[in-house]
Amino acid sequence: MDIAILSVSLHVHSTRRLVEEAQKAGHYVELIDHTKCSVKLGEGNPKIFFGSEDVTHEFDAIIPRIGTKVTKHGAAIVKQFEINGVFSTARSAAISRARNKVATLQILAKNGLPIPETLFSINPNNIEDQLRLLGGPPVIIKLQEGTQGLGVILAETKKSARSIIDTFYKMDTSILIQKFIEEANGEDIRIIVIGKKVVASMKRTSDMDEFRSNIHRGGLGEAVKLTPREKFIALQATQLLGLGVAGVDLIRSASGPLILEVNASPGLKGVEAATGVNVAKRIIQYMERHVGRKS
Ligand SMILES: Nc1ncnc2c1ncn2[C@@H]1O[C@H](COP(=O)(O)OP(=O)(O)O)[C@@H](O)[C@H]1O
Ligand SMILES: [Mg+2]
Repeated sequence: MDIAILSVSLHVHSTRRLVEEAQKAGHYVELIDHTKCSVKLGEGNPKIFFGSEDVTHEFDAIIPRIGTKVTKHGAAIVKQFEINGVFSTARSAAISRARNKVATLQILAKNGLPIPETLFSINPNNIEDQLRLLGGPPVIIKLQEGTQGLGVILAETKKSARSIIDTFYKMDTSILIQKFIEEANGEDIRIIVIGKKVVASMKRTSDMDEFRSNIHRGGLGEAVKLTPREKFIALQATQLLGLGVAGVDLIRSASGPLILEVNASPGLKGVEAATGVNVAKRIIQYMERHVGRKS
């Protein structure tokens, strides 16, 4: 296969791992920075350019690793590859859905999957009522489009919750408010789904004095065995969002597992190290199955 990895950060570990495994399997692989891509529409067939190079018909498959910045442009480039018949490990609509935590939770809730009690609003005039709807503080306040634990805040008192929420509303920043799952004890579970299979899962334990368990925030990962229900909801969530490859985050609450979010380009370093699973290789094999080519 001829594979393009769409990523702005070409030196990150996950990208390097994907390149490594693609080459090992005998594929051609190129790194494409989607911020340097343009699409030309109208007059003839749509064309995709990388800088001034026409890459419209260069690739059989793409792996989008679209970061938080330029998601919109990245999604539009992915969409154009899709329209042109190129296989993608994540469809453009799914990337946009997964990027936004509210959009994700709306889809999951509609389909009966368990999520923490969550509220979204933009009204600065009844914050007290909003807090009451969640049973009062402590609450988690989250940027709708944050990642790596940045933009996830724990507000322990009514006073701090009120001032943080008020500030965000007045800054026109999209947030959500969520019940704090205290009994999770700073732990969560990251589940890697590829196609219709769970291929790896790890428990992440947060650093001391920290409730966020993201590896980027100092969380430590170790392999964990999932319950059948946890497996089932991770697979369902991935499928509902329409992702081929996903990192599902869930938290173990007193009332069972709750899904926090679904990541469209999950990091590979932490999970490969914790579980010993060659996730990059599994992604390449998944692409081979879909494109119908072994090399
Ligand atoms: N409602 C919650 N209750 C307790 N801990 C939470 C809650 N939401 C998030 N966390 C903690 O914060 C981390 C980051 O939250 P998450 O929603 O996954 O956002 P991000 O996209 O930044 O990873 C989670 O992995 C979890 O450890
Ligand atoms: Mg997360």
